[in-house]
Amino acid sequence: MSDTTEETLANLLKEDRRFEPPAELAEHANVTADAYDAAAQDRDAFWADAARRLTWAQDFTEVLDWSNPPFAQWFADGTINAAYNCVDRHVEAGKGDKVALHFVGEPVDDDPANKRSITYAQLQDMVCQAANTLGDLGVEKGDRVAIYMPMIPEAIVAMLACARIGAPHTVVFGGFSSDALASRLEDCQAKVVVTSDGGYRRGAPSSLKPAVDEARTKAADLGHTVSKVLVVRRTGQDVAWDDAVDVWWHDTVEQASTDHTPEAFPAEHPLYVMYTSGTTGKPKGILHTTGGYLTGAAYTHWAVFDLKPDSDVYWCTADIGWVTGHSYIVYGPLANGATQVLYEGTPDFPERGRWWDIVAEYGVTLFYTAPTAIRSFMKQGREIPDARDLSSLRILGSVGEPINPEAYVWYRHVIGGDRTPVVDTWWQTETGAMMISPLPGVTAGKPGSAMVPLPGISAAVVDDAGKPVGNGSGGLLVITDPWPSMLRTIWGDDDRFKETYWARFEKEGFYFAGDGAKLDDDGDLWVLGRVDDVMNVSGHRLSTTEIESALVSHPKVAEAAVVGAKDEDTGQAVCAFVILRESAVESGASDGGEDIVEELRNHVRKEIGPIAKPRQIMVVPELPKTRSGKIMRRLLRDVAENREVGDVTTLADSSVMDLISSGLSSGK
Ligand code: WTA
Repeated sequence: MSDTTEETLANLLKEDRRFEPPAELAEHANVTADAYDAAAQDRDAFWADAARRLTWAQDFTEVLDWSNPPFAQWFADGTINAAYNCVDRHVEAGKGDKVALHFVGEPVDDDPANKRSITYAQLQDMVCQAANTLGDLGVEKGDRVAIYMPMIPEAIVAMLACARIGAPHTVVFGGFSSDALASRLEDCQAKVVVTSDGGYRRGAPSSLKPAVDEARTKAADLGHTVSKVLVVRRTGQDVAWDDAVDVWWHDTVEQASTDHTPEAFPAEHPLYVMYTSGTTGKPKGILHTTGGYLTGAAYTHWAVFDLKPDSDVYWCTADIGWVTGHSYIVYGPLANGATQVLYEGTPDFPERGRWWDIVAEYGVTLFYTAPTAIRSFMKQGREIPDARDLSSLRILGSVGEPINPEAYVWYRHVIGGDRTPVVDTWWQTETGAMMISPLPGVTAGKPGSAMVPLPGISAAVVDDAGKPVGNGSGGLLVITDPWPSMLRTIWGDDDRFKETYWARFEKEGFYFAGDGAKLDDDGDLWVLGRVDDVMNVSGHRLSTTEIESALVSHPKVAEAAVVGAKDEDTGQAVCAFVILRESAVESGASDGGEDIVEELRNHVRKEIGPIAKPRQIMVVPELPKTRSGKIMRRLLRDVAENREVGDVTTLADSSVMDLISSGLSSGK
């Protein structure tokens, strides 16, 4: 653990504020303290009950098959359709007129409000139409469909249509570049892509379709052909059109029949693949299957947000391009029959109070966002939320990165009027659903702590040898028993799945999460952040090696090392150290001047996407390496965080750090 982490931790553990659950909430809470005992006594029975909150076409007889670890099978002989559970069953239960989605779009020229509310019955029609169209386009059960879209209702409709016909979707965040899209299309061999001409960002149209066209060409170069592209018209901007491949949504989906019979699939049928950054350059396709995943997403959403479907209005500000959008915009809330806000825009456009206006307008009761957003609101000042009526809020959630106590307390106090519990939810793309979080009617909140594993989840903090560390100590976060929404494998790479998550504690059979954590004296858990080469920037996972590969693909770069440096606003920020090629040095780029730095930052943006653009690039003459050639990122982090450089004794050449530091301080 680095010195700063220790320091942060020491400060964190001085934190002694406690917030008890509000009595009224506790009294009517969906989940009470006995859930922990029930789950501890009979985990399988606990999860079987949670699974039966869903509607199964054929009930399961076996809960968990763990005979071939780490390959789990949950509810394997049951059959189920995820889209039916998210939509049809609510209509059949007489809730067709209930609003599923309050869509709040970006202001668009001719429609400044740009809002529409979609009921469950309407959603059912839309999903059926899209399912029929996907079938017409040749998509069959098991085929993969990529979705590359802005935050508009059609994105959710496309996901559910895929689920309905058993075609696993892979949603690629709209902010990713055509290269990133191409590699995902190729990796999962996507047959069809669903996209839109573009989306709106801060009131202005930005394009998406051209990136799909480029990605299609790049995927073809890699030997993979996308057969059809289904395009929603969102902005009306001009798009290039290939009649053999491109199809308009309004010409097909909107004309299709609203009748479609959902097929029930085995519980272990693949539901989706979500790519996420790992410690190597190549993103991993995390595979989630149907029954267990839906059980985990729906149960946790209901338990942690204490969802009362008939009175609550829920809003999660994530993008559906990330796992949070999958589990806590699409599958969890819709399986629970919730009414939610779906928001297309940014937090501060057209004005800085935009989010709070939305909370007031729709009477949002449950709100889920990331610490980065909270910190940026703190900076803007409390006058902005204070000027709005936020009295509808009753529970506030946090996800994606550790929440610092100041941000937690501000969130609770200014946004929640000191009435609302804050649920700090720890989980990952791989876990599919929340793993560690307070229950709002049970657990007292401590600012900065994710508290305890949810009922049915067993987590531990262990040392390098896999031994639990005990209260008051730190170590590695592991999950000790399988859980329904766990990833089943890495798409097409079972070996990497075993190696990445299970090899580290093979003997113990623990899932290794890649995060460091500490237990306080009460046994409550504090997540400290990644212990591997994964960074967390504004709650987005980025791989240091992926950005390094992007940098060295630039002709002027000989070597690159990337670290995540502490950043007040974004949690961590991308800092890169590059050694330029001699040819570039000779042509005068060696001074690390604005030009080359900007050129390289933009290169990363083009290769991966704007979120990966380094905050800072430092041109250096050497990189610190061990005798075995491994870059010592710890030392570079010291430089990036303006700290005295730590222990250099394991460096092959201990003078390298002097060279780097002196070069930087003299502006070279
Ligand atoms: C981090 C997002 C501290 C953690 C759902 C994890 C958190 C990674 C928290 C997963 C939290 C997520 N407190 N850290 N409440 N939630 N993280 O896959 O490092 O995008 O391993 O999933 O985010 O990021 P991912």
